[in-house]
Amino acid sequence: MKNVTVIKNIGELLTMQGAAIKDGRYLLPEDKNIISNGAVVYDENQILWVGVESELPKEYKSEKSIDLNGGVLTPELVDCHTHLVFGGDRAFEYSMRLDGRGYEDIASSGGGILNTMRGTNKASEDELLEVGRKRIEKLNSYGVGTIEIKSGYGLNLEKECELTLVIDKLKKEFAPRIQIINTFMPAHAVPKEFTTSKQYLNQVVFPLMEEFSDKGIIDCVDIFHEKGYFDFDDTELFFGRALDLGLKVKSHADEFNDNKGAILAVKHGALSTDHLLCTTEDGIAALAGSSTVANLLPGTGFFLGETQVNARKFLDAGVKVAIGSDYNPGSCHWDNVLMIAAMSAMTYKMNSCELWAAITHNASHALGLKKQGAIVVGMQPRFSRFSVGSVAEITYAWGKNYAF
Ligand code: NIG
Ligand code: FE
Repeated sequence: MKNVTVIKNIGELLTMQGAAIKDGRYLLPEDKNIISNGAVVYDENQILWVGVESELPKEYKSEKSIDLNGGVLTPELVDCHTHLVFGGDRAFEYSMRLDGRGYEDIASSGGGILNTMRGTNKASEDELLEVGRKRIEKLNSYGVGTIEIKSGYGLNLEKECELTLVIDKLKKEFAPRIQIINTFMPAHAVPKEFTTSKQYLNQVVFPLMEEFSDKGIIDCVDIFHEKGYFDFDDTELFFGRALDLGLKVKSHADEFNDNKGAILAVKHGALSTDHLLCTTEDGIAALAGSSTVANLLPGTGFFLGETQVNARKFLDAGVKVAIGSDYNPGSCHWDNVLMIAAMSAMTYKMNSCELWAAITHNASHALGLKKQGAIVVGMQPRFSRFSVGSVAEITYAWGKNYAF
């Protein structure tokens, strides 16, 4: 047999088999399907066998093996929402917010995304590559092996082009150890030199989207559908153009206002729609009847001091829920999605399987990666490893890093 590997001596093997069977909805704690004293067999493409080690089929016994020393193996952790390629920082704005200024108020007086636009435009391509590398390695140190990265802090033709190419370089450099999903998001804010959002879409976003779609560089596209950024019409136009080019779409929606963003995203078959703090019943119903993932970003809620979303409304309606870090310089300067999810699950009233699905199975689906997110035969062999004796310890010890 070619390139077969056996992982042995797994104290607890979190398979998420039940979660995969249920497509990540209506999950119960037992859908985690944990196997004690487990083993997994795989080749370079897929998982071949999963079970209790004492039942390992004879044919695999002499294959090369990895000893997990009684540790935990889980489906690979996925951070399905980051903006990690940026220059500068917004530490001062955080202090301003502590002292009473609001996020939107700071943004409308030239801070916010436009502040990071200036910081990013000052950084050279090499500097952006270097900060990107460091941040990716840091996320990986928490056990995260698939990372979505959005462009969107260049906000002009030249710099947005550079940012997408920087993400592409990082993607190639880290594959296959770390899988990067390149999300095209110049529709992140409208720079001051444009009088309307449509003008910016037509002059910067759409020409670049066409170019990158021809070159096959981007994996999906995203837009900040919010008052003061891109409105319902802009977003509909944006989705239409992207879908005509065969691109997969996502949105930042209903964060500060109910803009019917979740409904619009579902209508266009979006992979995910993210934030959703103000989404009302009609949006939740639309999500429940669709394969669009609701990507809730609790780190942003904590960082901005917002009331958290009522996650149970989504979960109980049968919506597929994921959690991403939203790691960015302004609204969530917090890069550890495992810690964010572990900490938020109590507030969200998520059970343990819903928590794990949010950062494995459903997070993969939010990126269109349907062949990962569970350790079952036929899925891709993408795992995370932890040097603890039980799955429970990983989410119990907030911020302790057991990944190896
Ligand atoms: O996801 N909403 C738009 N983008 C980021 C905020 C980025 C920033 O403040 O720099 C977000 O929260
Ligand atoms: Fe975001």
